[in-house]
Amino acid sequence: MLSPVKLRRSLCLVFVPFLIISGIVIFQSGVYHKIPKSLVPSLSTGAEKPIPIRKPLADAPTPIVDNFPLAANANSTTDLPPVPSWNAPPTIHVAESTPLFIGFTRNWRLLQQTVVSYITAGWPPGDIYVIENTGVMGSNCDGLLTLQNPFYLDYHRLMKVLGINVISTPTLFTFAQLQNFYIYTALANNWTHYFWAHMDTVVVSDEEREPFEPLYTRAVSALRETLDPNWGPLATLWFAYDRLALVRTQAFVDVGGWDTMIPFYMTDCDMHERLWMRDFRIENAEAGKVWDVASSLEDLEVLYRKVDYVDSNAQRNSPTYKDLVQKFDDMQRAKATDSGGRNTWQARQRGGQGEPFYRDAEGFERAVWMWMEFGRDVFTEKWGRGPCDIRDAGMIEGDAWRVEKGWEKPEVQWKYAKMKEESAKVRAAEMKEKETSNAKEKPVV
Ligand SMILES: *[C@@H]1O[C@H](CO)[C@@H](O)[C@H](O)[C@H]1NC(C)=O
Ligand SMILES: *[C@@H]1O[C@H](CO)[C@@H](O)[C@H](O)[C@H]1NC(C)=O
Repeated sequence: MLSPVKLRRSLCLVFVPFLIISGIVIFQSGVYHKIPKSLVPSLSTGAEKPIPIRKPLADAPTPIVDNFPLAANANSTTDLPPVPSWNAPPTIHVAESTPLFIGFTRNWRLLQQTVVSYITAGWPPGDIYVIENTGVMGSNCDGLLTLQNPFYLDYHRLMKVLGINVISTPTLFTFAQLQNFYIYTALANNWTHYFWAHMDTVVVSDEEREPFEPLYTRAVSALRETLDPNWGPLATLWFAYDRLALVRTQAFVDVGGWDTMIPFYMTDCDMHERLWMRDFRIENAEAGKVWDVASSLEDLEVLYRKVDYVDSNAQRNSPTYKDLVQKFDDMQRAKATDSGGRNTWQARQRGGQGEPFYRDAEGFERAVWMWMEFGRDVFTEKWGRGPCDIRDAGMIEGDAWRVEKGWEKPEVQWKYAKMKEESAKVRAAEMKEKETSNAKEKPVV
């Protein structure tokens, strides 16, 4: 007979290796990963998978058509009419670098209109940079997206026919990140200044103004004025609000760039207040007419003003000019009074299913709106309160993230809470309106 001690030792000798080996076998064979079915709590009563409640499919919107047929058939810049003679860019480039960034995420027609309007207002095409911020990586460059895809961008048209440049962001950026990418690009090119324009704007030189100067020339003059040391430290010049803006790169670097934690709305408040806190100057300037639009001319060729050349004498301030101004005034008014809100133009195209980096157009729109809302909350946390006027409220740069939330007097807080509630109501109504109007999409104008 074995003593109890010896017995225990023998059992150990047999069982311990057995346990180790079977453990390894079970682990290797993957049995370990299988959880017995009976242990998984079942949400459905039957054996079938639950069926998600899917949203009804909206009718396909009216397909968009290209808004510059002449350019669609052109192979190079020489196939396009010349820029109106009175707007022609200087034959020798001005001494200053004058890059103009135009960010693009969605809506090809609006972008093309913006670009062509800058070219025909005298901006040197070689100085115009479309910053592709679609998140489709090389797909547009490789021509893999089609016109009905919201993120469609025609590289050939922009570079070979219109003669401008395209730079792509590496992935989809928020507004704040895109702005920092402008700074980054300016630094990489040693550009002390850059201009940037919203892609839902359109410009023309002011032809009623005497003596006449093209929009580009006036923008350069505005830049030169700020170069005088007596002028003071420039941060940014705004032409027609910030529809077109001039930025002094170093000022934006000095305050650490845009706060990317505030992705869309309020990030401009945060940036500009921080610039003012350091006594940088932000001023208004004028260069010509700049509109904020949500629609495009049917044919951009009219911007080349061919009909205004009579016996090779060119006519400024002609009926064509007045007609253009009228049209853009109407388009701006339509945007401002659109029942669907200001931001309807982003969701005009809903095609591109199956193409690289395809995203549901309505889902994309919804998600961006959610980020916009989120940004307001971050701003509120950062400065302890929601409204834009953080300097007027007595705060200095070092107060960012260092004040108690809701530090302000209760009556001020109450007023703001009321304001926020009201604007949330308005936005909710806008979203609802937009959803209904998306469902019965109007033809694109
Ligand atoms: C562009 O090239 C194509 C193919 O060579 C040609 O058919 C077309 O006529 C050209 N367009 C113009 C405006 O010259
Ligand atoms: C920018 O300036 C630096 C220093 O003078 C120079 O080395 C670099 O090549 C310049 N970059 C460009 C793009 O001109």
